[in-house]
Amino acid sequence: MIAAVLTALLFASATQYATAADNNHCPSGWTFSTNTSYCYIQSSQYMTYSEADPYCQSIGGSQVFVFTTRELTWLTDFTSSSLVQPWIATTRNTTTNIWYNSDKTTPPRSYWTTGEPGVNGDCATFKGITTAGLKATQCYSLQPALCRQMPALCPTIKDYGGSSTRSGTIQSPGYPVQYYNNLDCWYTITCKFRNSLICQIVIVSAPKNTYITLLFNPYMVQDYVDYIDVYDGPNSSYPFLGTTDYWYFLRFDFESSNNSVSFKFHTDNIITDKGWQLTWNAKSNTPPISQSGQNGSFTSPNYPNDYDPYTEQLYYITAPLGFQVNVSITDFVTELNFDILEIYNSSYVSSNYLVANLSGPSIAPWSWVSPSRYVTMRFKSDYMVQKKGFSLFWFIQ
Ligand SMILES: *[C@@H]1O[C@H](CO)[C@@H](O)[C@H](O)[C@H]1NC(C)=O
Ligand SMILES: *[C@@H]1O[C@H](CO)[C@@H](O)[C@H](O)[C@H]1NC(C)=O
Ligand SMILES: *[C@@H]1O[C@H](CO)[C@@H](O)[C@H](O)[C@H]1NC(C)=O
Ligand SMILES: *[C@@H]1O[C@H](CO)[C@@H](O)[C@H](O)[C@H]1NC(C)=O
Ligand SMILES: *[C@@H]1O[C@H](CO)[C@@H](O)[C@H](O)[C@H]1NC(C)=O
Ligand SMILES: *[C@@H]1O[C@H](CO)[C@@H](O)[C@H](O)[C@H]1NC(C)=O
Ligand SMILES: *[C@@H]1O[C@H](CO)[C@@H](O)[C@H](O)[C@H]1NC(C)=O
Ligand SMILES: *[C@@H]1O[C@H](CO)[C@@H](O)[C@H](O)[C@H]1NC(C)=O
Repeated sequence: MIAAVLTALLFASATQYATAADNNHCPSGWTFSTNTSYCYIQSSQYMTYSEADPYCQSIGGSQVFVFTTRELTWLTDFTSSSLVQPWIATTRNTTTNIWYNSDKTTPPRSYWTTGEPGVNGDCATFKGITTAGLKATQCYSLQPALCRQMPALCPTIKDYGGSSTRSGTIQSPGYPVQYYNNLDCWYTITCKFRNSLICQIVIVSAPKNTYITLLFNPYMVQDYVDYIDVYDGPNSSYPFLGTTDYWYFLRFDFESSNNSVSFKFHTDNIITDKGWQLTWNAKSNTPPISQSGQNGSFTSPNYPNDYDPYTEQLYYITAPLGFQVNVSITDFVTELNFDILEIYNSSYVSSNYLVANLSGPSIAPWSWVSPSRYVTMRFKSDYMVQKKGFSLFWFIQ
């Protein structure tokens, strides 16, 4: 099982391991192996075989068994100065006389030291000098425990969002296999919208019209002691928005009040789970514009000046009962295919009711009569090119 987990992790996240070439990712006293990407510790006290795994678990790890020749080499190096051979999580089934690791696999012949496994004992220790390998030992014998645990690895990318992103997903380290113990991973999402004319300058004030929504789904994290704290700004000096797990009260969605949100994934030193996936979206916080009565008119924001990047503006028309709505666009200039006015023959946005998806320089004049008394429109711009937008009027008929 652990071998499978490790294989999957090495396969899925080689880059995360590349950042782990120092010992800082292991709790104090543990040694990081660049060869196996695990943290190891050997106990100073001696104990019987059955006490070894509970001991390892009590300090946040599990008992070592040898899962690759690479680890065999590492363990040889790690234990070579040890006077007493440590326990290895490998035992003999006395009925079948077959040896099993704690994950139910059987160690290959080559992992045993010369002349082993002998008949003298049903539990294995590790001999760290030539020829290094497993050795059968009496289970009541007193030996040190040898423990390992996954290192605490946070992603190297901590900042998400930026000038060209308005949504995304983030996964916990190791997701969907397993996250690590001892984490305090920081993530910051900031939506900085760029002025297309002066690309080098990040206009932090432009996103005054945005906020960010977070939704953690799935969320498979150990109750209570592992959690995510969310802050309403780029770091923890901003107001606390909430936590995913407050005394077992779970919460998965959060909303920032401005263009930046940050959160910390904290894990303790024992028990992990599969982790989480976050979907985030930068949203416009300009309120929808609603009109009713017999006639009215709308323009894009700032019209006839250019609309802003990342505009998202909703318009609702409600005509009196029994009437229909004639919508006539008199002026329309947007970035083709990217800055779009959507028109719906319904009272809300729904892809089922989309009647027009307008963009570009050559839409106007355009007109349409709604089949009902409701019209909903949504104008969306991206970050790149801004233009003057549109002007339209409507009346009942
Ligand atoms: C770790 O791996 C490197 C390269 O694979 C090898 O040269 C080195 O001997 C190994 N060290 C240990 C302690 O296993
Ligand atoms: C040993 O193997 C036998 C036969 O496969 C099995 O029934 C028994 O449960 C095993 N004993 C242990 C302690 O796993
Ligand atoms: C939102 O953030 C901008 C900077 O990105 C800042 O100028 C503005 O004051 C913030 N607004 C609120 C309500 O915090
Ligand atoms: C938090 O972010 C603000 C604005 O980016 C910065 O001025 C402040 O120094 C940061 N505080 C910490 C503790 O990082
Ligand atoms: C628009 O509606 C108002 C009443 O709300 C009406 O007085 C006005 O004549 C209408 N204008 C047009 C052009 O229909
Ligand atoms: C509207 O058109 C644009 C391209 O012109 C396309 O990317 C977008 O998916 C369309 N929207 C809908 C809801 O069909
Ligand atoms: C509303 O628009 C949808 C999509 O274009 C269309 O299938 C539907 O028939 C329209 N509804 C009416 C009442 O015209
Ligand atoms: C909407 O009204 C205008 C007159 O203001 C007219 O020219 C146009 O044909 C009407 N549109 C439809 C689809 O009937």
